[in-house]
Formats: sequence, structure tokens, C-alpha cells
Amino acid sequence: MVSVSEVVEEDSKYLMQSFSRWYPLVIDHAEGSLVYDIEGRVYIDMNAGIGVMALGHRNRKVLNAIQTQMEKFLHYSLTDFYYELAVRVAKRLTGFFPWSTKVFYTNSGTESVEASLKIARASTGRQYILGFINSFHGRTFGSMSFTSSKYVQRSMFSPLLPSTLLLPYPDKHNPLCRDDCSAEVISYLEDWVLNKVVDPNDVAAVLLEPIQGEGGVVVPPKDFLQQLRSLTRRHGILLILDEVQTGIGRTGKMFAFEHFSVDPDLVCLAKALGGGLPLGAVVGREELMDLPRGSHANTFGGNPLALAAAEVVLEEVPRLLDHVSEVGKAIADKLNDIKSPYVEEVRGLGLMLGVDLRKGGRPYPEGLSKVLLNSFRRGVLAIGAGESVVRLLPPLVIEEELAMKATKVIKEEIEQI
Ligand SMILES: Cc1ncc(COP(=O)(O)O)c(C=O)c1O
Repeated sequence: MVSVSEVVEEDSKYLMQSFSRWYPLVIDHAEGSLVYDIEGRVYIDMNAGIGVMALGHRNRKVLNAIQTQMEKFLHYSLTDFYYELAVRVAKRLTGFFPWSTKVFYTNSGTESVEASLKIARASTGRQYILGFINSFHGRTFGSMSFTSSKYVQRSMFSPLLPSTLLLPYPDKHNPLCRDDCSAEVISYLEDWVLNKVVDPNDVAAVLLEPIQGEGGVVVPPKDFLQQLRSLTRRHGILLILDEVQTGIGRTGKMFAFEHFSVDPDLVCLAKALGGGLPLGAVVGREELMDLPRGSHANTFGGNPLALAAAEVVLEEVPRLLDHVSEVGKAIADKLNDIKSPYVEEVRGLGLMLGVDLRKGGRPYPEGLSKVLLNSFRRGVLAIGAGESVVRLLPPLVIEEELAMKATKVIKEEIEQI
């Protein structure tokens, strides 16, 4: 039997090591919200494969749907052909939107963001796209041009996409902000950027995460998105929401934009959508999704196996939303009970939660590493976000008792630092 240390060693020999791994978890198999390593240890999964496994591991309905589809055909490409499953899933997906939408399928989050940028430029005939500092939108050139939660994600790869600008996100840890600075950010954008730097008629879209995930689970003030929506509408600018992490029930609503009562023009999805298989989508207002034939496509987008899983995900997740809110609240209550001078804030919505660790008001990455490694040693899987935020993204199906057991470990480890 191969050991954990052997796999880790061989991994470093044969794979590019540009990842940020927190601890040596070598998975053998997983079930529900539990993960088993190759040496027989069991862990409570508070990562869900980075916000992907909404229905838990080896969900029977997902596996059966994949199996059934597998026996029919694996692939044939929507670029040139048709299949009914693609239409069925798109119908179901658009059914969650109270306005008329159409779908473009992709294979990942970054590809959904790329598609949304192209749709925005093509449908408006404008070239500028604005994003926000501390965002994460992916690693390909378009999305990377807006990814800015850590400079290592972009600094070696310039030049990035031209005609882009990054704005401050209304986060109270942004040095320009003290508490709620939505009004200041909106005024900076409207009175400054759109007055001095770029003609609003040249701006195709504003792209942002409704909650910054990788940047540290940063929830903007409630009215910020509404103010941004009004501003963009005044200038004919599209609002693109990247719901790759927040979408598909993660926050206790099907999409995070529902918490903020805004109606985006384009929504980027991936992660949980494919039930563990690579699938992303852009859902856009019908009138924007009218690109000329041949102008955008991909070979694997809307792969039938991933769509079969997505059909189950889209049927099951709406029934889980109350559970997500309840378990999320129970976890947050327990985290709010932590007695430690290093907890700056517990934040998030539903089952997307973060504990911001700070020392003397500054991010505390050493504290974060300790908490994650020690929790791992005690059988709990969680990773970090931002500079020093413990991020919790468990499967949406996680039983409350299991979630509380994991939270207790994390609480104790934070109290130990
Ligand atoms: C908000 C957001 N957008 C885009 C991405 C990129 O997704 P992918 O890694 O599937 O390209 C991520 C990944 O974490 C994300 O959290």
C-alpha cells in the first residue's frame, strides 16, 4: 500500500507545484460529508472540494444520473450538434431567474467569467470592464485581469487585459473605509472614475463577486449592490455577478444576488453546478445572449455527464436552502463564541463562512496555518482565504451534528493559538 508521504513526495516530483496546499491530505474515497485518506483516517469535510460537492460525496442520485447518461453517450459537443439534456438543464436553470435568460455552458469558473466578458463587450459594443480589488475570478488572462486578492496570482503574467480598471470593494478593512463605505465607493466610481478616467459610454460592464470568497469571505454592505445596480443602469453598463462560489444554494438562497435584491445582467456559475464534474455556465438576459454564429463556443462545455449531474443538483438544492441557513447560523453562533484575542470578525452567509484572524489589527497568516494544520490533525478539513481567514464551505447536505463537531474543533484550535 502506498503511504501519504510517498504520494506527497512523488507529487512534488511529477506535478507543477504552483498550488497553495495547507496540509498533506491524500484522499482515498469520500462519502456524504466525510473524507477518508489512504491510510484509513477519516475527516469531516468543511471544504466540499472548494465549494463544489453541494450534495455531498457519492450522492446516489448524482451517481445514478451519471451512470444512466454514461450508457447513452459520453460526448458529442454542442458546438455543432444538439442534445435534449442541454436544453432540459438550461430550462431548469433559467427557471430560477424571474426575468428572461439564456444559458451558455462552460467547463469551469474562469471560463464562465471569460464568456461573460466577451458577451458584455459584444452586446454593448463598449470595451472597458471594471472590477474590484481583492476579487477572485479565475486564472486565465481575462478573468486574471480582475483577480486581485493576492498579487502572486497576477504579478508574473503581465501584460493583462487592457481597458480594465480595479475599484475599491466596500470592505471595512480596505484602508479607505471605516465601516460602511458603500456611498464613498459609489461616488468614487461615478464622480471620479466615470468622470475623469473613462467615458461611461465606453464601459461595457462592472464585474464583481456578491461576496468575495477567495479574498476572505467579504460581505458587502446590504445596499451596496443596489446602489451599484442603479448606477450601472443609469449609464447603460452591464452588471456581471460572479456567483461561481456563492451560487447554487451556498448562501442559503439559490443565488447570492437574492439576498441583495438586485437583478444582474449576467451571472457566472461553475463549482457546485456540475455536482463534482466540470461544468460552468453564464446565465444572461435573453437580449444580451445574441452573439453571431461562430463567435463563441467550446468543445466540452455542457458535457452530457456533467449536465446529468447538474440536473440532479438543480432539483435537489432548492430543497436544502432552509437547512443551509439553519446549519450556517448554528456554525456562526458557535464561532461567535470563540474566546480569542485574534478573532477580528466572523462573517458570511449560509454555509459560506469565514473567521478573520488578526494580530494587532494586521492579518495573522501564521495563526491561520496553525489552526488549519491542527484541525486537520484532529480530523477536520478547512482551508484559508484572504490573508488569514479560516474559510468554511461544507457540503450543503452536512448534518448539523457533524458540522458542530467540526466547528468545535476549529473553535478550540483558534482558542489555542
Ligand atoms: C468567485 C470565483 N470565480 C471564479 C473562480 C474560478 O473558478 P475555476 O477554478 O473553476 O476556474 C473561482 C474559483 O475559486 C471563484 O471562487
